[in-house]
Amino acid sequence: MGGQIGVEIIGTAMHLPEGKLTNQKLEELMTTSDEWIVKRTGINTRRQADIANGETASVLATEAMRKALVKANIDAKELDLLLVATMTCDSPTPSVACVVARELGCNDIGAMDINAACSGFLYTISIADAMIKSGSYKTIGVIGADTITRHIDYSDYGRGAAILFGDGAGAVVLQANEDPSKGMIAHKMHADGNGAKHLFIPSCQLDFPPEAEFDERKLDKVQMNGQAVFKFAVTKFQEVIAETLEDAGISADEVDHFVCHQANSRILDSARDRFGIPEEKLLVNIHKYGNTVAGSIPIVLDELIEDGKIKPGQKVMFLAFGAGLTWGSSLWQF
Ligand code: ACO
Repeated sequence: MGGQIGVEIIGTAMHLPEGKLTNQKLEELMTTSDEWIVKRTGINTRRQADIANGETASVLATEAMRKALVKANIDAKELDLLLVATMTCDSPTPSVACVVARELGCNDIGAMDINAACSGFLYTISIADAMIKSGSYKTIGVIGADTITRHIDYSDYGRGAAILFGDGAGAVVLQANEDPSKGMIAHKMHADGNGAKHLFIPSCQLDFPPEAEFDERKLDKVQMNGQAVFKFAVTKFQEVIAETLEDAGISADEVDHFVCHQANSRILDSARDRFGIPEEKLLVNIHKYGNTVAGSIPIVLDELIEDGKIKPGQKVMFLAFGAGLTWGSSLWQF
């Protein structure tokens, strides 16, 4: 392929565990109410992986990519790189990407995980676009997969975070294309480790920030200052949209779809209000799945593509924020 290289998304898919975690189920586990959860977050239900029976992030990731390859109409052996965004790998090693490559029969390809929490998928497709445009790779599989519910305390003690999260995976297949207008137009990757104290999962006493009191019950469970994360998310979402539009030299009206990390419907509403984004340009599916961490954006993308809502030539802005703290954008032309 001579000259400039474009990047096309040739297949997308999602895979969700069967297990459901409804607001009514949470009412049985902790002091909360369906009304409170819906009003504060927009969430009705979520999916929960059966970790005890081996339904780990690599299982969800493998199934999502298997379906995406079918839709892309290519064999797993045609992938020449596999990247998985996750913060909940089955164990410290092997990576989820290595397990997926093995399960799908990809022979001798590069495979690795990238951890940027809920911003992980967004970081990873931006990296994959650059790898293809460099000419080094032709077909890259990118997955966002997390089983965050394994790190949730389903008691009154953990109720602030427990209501938000669900498990799931989404996958896309990216391929080099002769049309250089296709692919990423602009992107931003941001991180601020000073905010890590607002959202972390401690493995041992040393992982607690100075301002947090050590408590054995908190080990291995999501610790979140909901209000601090909420304020960060509202501010950074708006900032990153503005800076990405400026870099691309376009206005918000020229973006056809905003594919956003689903963390709280009120955070999405604030971005819609600020930029006058009509409802049909910003799909909200949080009511069905909650916050699926790195799975969230590719799940929204797959829904839009399955419904025929994204058309060739349209501009799509991916947006996310998450633990780290991390946030960013990736503006694509389809
Ligand atoms: N059910 C009922 N009441 C609750 C619950 C619950 N599950 N959780 C907290 N409350 C109570 C609090 O105790 C508090 O009571 P008080 O006023 O008597 O003290 C009251 O509700 C209000 O609590 P707030 O924390 O102020 O509630 P808020 O309106 O901020 O909503 C929420 C909390 C939903 C967590 C919100 O802060 C939020 O969504 N924050 C963003 C979190 C987020 O997006 N995290 C994911 C980041 S992505 C990643 O990378 C993992």
